[in-house]
Amino acid sequence: MNKKADIGVIGMEVMGKNLALNMESKGYNVAVFNRTGSKTKDFVEGPAKGKNIIPTYELQNFVDVLKRPRKIMLMVKEGAPVDGFIENLVPLLDKGDLIIDGGNSFFKDTIRRNKELQEKGILFIGTGVSGGEEGALKGPAIMPGGQLEAYKLVEKIFIDISAKAEDGEPCVTYIGPDGAGHFVKTTHNGIEYGDMQLIGECAWFFKKGLGMNSGEIADIMAEWNGRNDILRSYLIEITADSMKEKHKAGDGYLVDIVADITRMKGTGTWTVQSALELLVPIPTIASAVFSREMSQDKDIRLKMAKLLKIPAGEKFSGDKKEVIDIAHDALYIAKISSYAQGLALLQAASKTWNFNLNLGEIAKIWRGGCIIRAQFLDEITKSYRENPELPNLLAAPRFSSFVNKNLWKLGRFIEISHKAGVPVLGMASSYDYILQIASSIMFSAQVAALQRDYFGAHGYFKIGGENQPEIITTSDGKIREFHTEWMIKGRPEKEITK
Ligand code: 6PG
Repeated sequence: MNKKADIGVIGMEVMGKNLALNMESKGYNVAVFNRTGSKTKDFVEGPAKGKNIIPTYELQNFVDVLKRPRKIMLMVKEGAPVDGFIENLVPLLDKGDLIIDGGNSFFKDTIRRNKELQEKGILFIGTGVSGGEEGALKGPAIMPGGQLEAYKLVEKIFIDISAKAEDGEPCVTYIGPDGAGHFVKTTHNGIEYGDMQLIGECAWFFKKGLGMNSGEIADIMAEWNGRNDILRSYLIEITADSMKEKHKAGDGYLVDIVADITRMKGTGTWTVQSALELLVPIPTIASAVFSREMSQDKDIRLKMAKLLKIPAGEKFSGDKKEVIDIAHDALYIAKISSYAQGLALLQAASKTWNFNLNLGEIAKIWRGGCIIRAQFLDEITKSYRENPELPNLLAAPRFSSFVNKNLWKLGRFIEISHKAGVPVLGMASSYDYILQIASSIMFSAQVAALQRDYFGAHGYFKIGGENQPEIITTSDGKIREFHTEWMIKGRPEKEITK
């Protein structure tokens, strides 16, 4: 075959294969390569048979069949495999060629790779690709970060292969420099963990608190995925679909015999680590990671379940329909809170790492293709369009008005779940995040400030008075700092402003 390829894909696992098929279906010639050649062979003799897909079995040959500037997409496991391929490719490439890493890489690796390759004249994009196998084949959400000129080389291909939102807009945009794309994808996954955790807690309450079987819960979820429902989303849809599945051995539901262990590949943990680094609270997302960790320690749970007699768990005896409606709105508020946390993290990261992120555009490309796609993202997009400077998502009138009216429902849901003996770490974290962010004075922090000063002479700031929450400053705007001599008679206070 003498035809040259528009783009090359390395890595013939399911994501790589499906992306190659997607590109080909949009009219592109695609060269493919895999470290183990038999996988390439199986692909071109199987799903890629008769298509404009060029198999190659040597890297040199792969590079030779690509049109210039070459565009090479790596769809391999994050970490060492990405570095390994980059190392092997670089000597075969020319200045101005482009390598794209489409895996779930750690964004600091992406920043490093971008810099190292730039020094060699090679362009580099680190991009999030969300949507799983089906998304890769039919249209994922794509979150590319790197040089703008690099993005321009593949913009058309990315637009063509991306998912389209309901209004027809492509679910791809240039995210920002070096690690921006992978940071946004990691945060997307953290938000995904949060969504999954919150939905799971609702299901657990329905099962234990309301005594419903999985089929009944699936019906509620299906209803919540109705056309105009505020909860309508892909994750609610697949929860409904998977929970009604019966297992093969009998008449029971599959979900009831699946082990209660949620594994993870690491992106949620990275999200929480970044939040810790940037001092941004994301308690709902963290609670989702912690809950996965707790789920994995099955041994300790089996032991402790015998030892600790937690309250037996009362079934809810009130109006079922009413409580399901409460759960619906509670879940929506918890979700708003979780997204507010995730977006706050993006905002902080943008500042620290100069990603120059546009939160409205990010919400816009998350509306289709990706795992967290939802009607709700349209509302977020509109909110940032109305006010690009929103200090927090919860400040957007469309969300604050809903929260102001319905927050009690989230409180009530937490209360009845606890009464039923159902842990709701995610829901409670979402609720308390709202309570904290809306506290002009956090009394717990006042107490801690004095504790620190007492045991460590660490000093404290002061506010204008009991009902004057503003911090007092010097005339030139410096925060005034004080210390009480706790061990000295009369406990004198002195000013220690530096
Ligand atoms: C996506 C998914 C995808 C993958 C996650 C699963 O956006 O398409 O998030 O990236 O399914 O890596 O993550 P865990 O294994 O950590 O649950």
